[in-house]
Amino acid sequence: AAEPDPLITEVQDWTRYLGKGVDATPYGLPSQYESDVVRRSVPWLTADAKSSVNFTPLYALDGTITPSGLCFERHHGGVAVIDPADHRLMIHGMVERPLVFTLDDLKRFPRENHVYFLECAANSGMEWRGAQLNGCQFTHGMIHNLEYCGVPLRYLLEEAGVKPQAKWLLAEGGDASLMTRSIPMEKIMDDCLVAFKMNGEALRPEQGYPIRLVVPGWEGNMWIKWLRRLELGDRSWEQREETSKYTDLLADGVARRHTFVMDVKSVITNPSPQAPLTHGKGRTVLTGLAWSGHGRIAKVDVSIDGGRNWSEARLEGGSSKGAYRFYHDFDWDGAELFLQSRAIDEDGNVQPTKDRLRAERGENSIYHNNGIQTWHVRADGVTENVEVS
Ligand code: MTE
Ligand code: CO
Repeated sequence: AAEPDPLITEVQDWTRYLGKGVDATPYGLPSQYESDVVRRSVPWLTADAKSSVNFTPLYALDGTITPSGLCFERHHGGVAVIDPADHRLMIHGMVERPLVFTLDDLKRFPRENHVYFLECAANSGMEWRGAQLNGCQFTHGMIHNLEYCGVPLRYLLEEAGVKPQAKWLLAEGGDASLMTRSIPMEKIMDDCLVAFKMNGEALRPEQGYPIRLVVPGWEGNMWIKWLRRLELGDRSWEQREETSKYTDLLADGVARRHTFVMDVKSVITNPSPQAPLTHGKGRTVLTGLAWSGHGRIAKVDVSIDGGRNWSEARLEGGSSKGAYRFYHDFDWDGAELFLQSRAIDEDGNVQPTKDRLRAERGENSIYHNNGIQTWHVRADGVTENVEVS
């Protein structure tokens, strides 16, 4: 360097004075310099904060695991505050023995640990009619990816003895919204968990403390928080959340129902509108997340020219029904870019362009928008949400 850098040549305060000792923060918090990295809501989306949503700051994260305090929140009746000593989980309906479990009872069943993504079916729902929200936090931030510890739900049902005619389960939450969803028995017996830990610590209140249902790969709405009741029956209950909500109105007026599985999807998190390319041309890291409710991600392709040419990204981490991190390291020539990513899962499902998605589904939908996202990076690095066709 031509000029001496005082950060190198001079003694700085943080080497001159002792820092705080141990126990200053018994439960750790992020650095004060990371105060920008927070969940954010879009005030005009909902009338009230008690039935609302905020978004995970995907643009500021790396790796695959979402930090517990940055998981987006979606609740319909505010955050229930429940003393675990007062919490009960009831199983009834078409069972041999109706049962009530305390938290201590649940912790005596064998536990498993799995990393899964949870995506709200309404994620990207504001983008059906065109590019709208400026930032992947808002376009794609209704997702988190956590390591859950919990008891496979089938162990609890085996304890209660499921009657042969039982084909569906109704799960109900203990919050003021009494959120209820019907789930088919094959899914329950396959991989659903009653979870009490996320990323090794107790569930956060916002995520359903003390227990939540984990329904891997399926609509986030089915992951009932503050889980308190499980009823076995021979048909789906057709509750509000599976009739008026979480159905997809097609162009011809017919509505798709029971679209439980979350489709294959990906998004570039850097660069993106909240994380522009400020460093100028040369060595550049492009990165993002990919996931599929069908299982594993096989491949992610990225394009820097709006989908004309594609190259295969490098995948890191990931698990079946969990999020993958992808990277594409390239030499930026300083000209404008149209960035896209396209995920393909192990079942061969390919993330569609927005044009193809609209041709199949029309523009009346809210849910299950897994279309390919485009970010326009200008020569000065400013990045915006756009569409190309
Ligand atoms: N469970 C209860 N009891 N109450 C709720 O409002 N919201 C659902 C689901 N489970 C909800 C609930 C919806 S729509 C989603 S997308 C997820 O929880 C959000 O989970 P999160 O808040 O951990 O992100
Ligand atoms: Co939701």
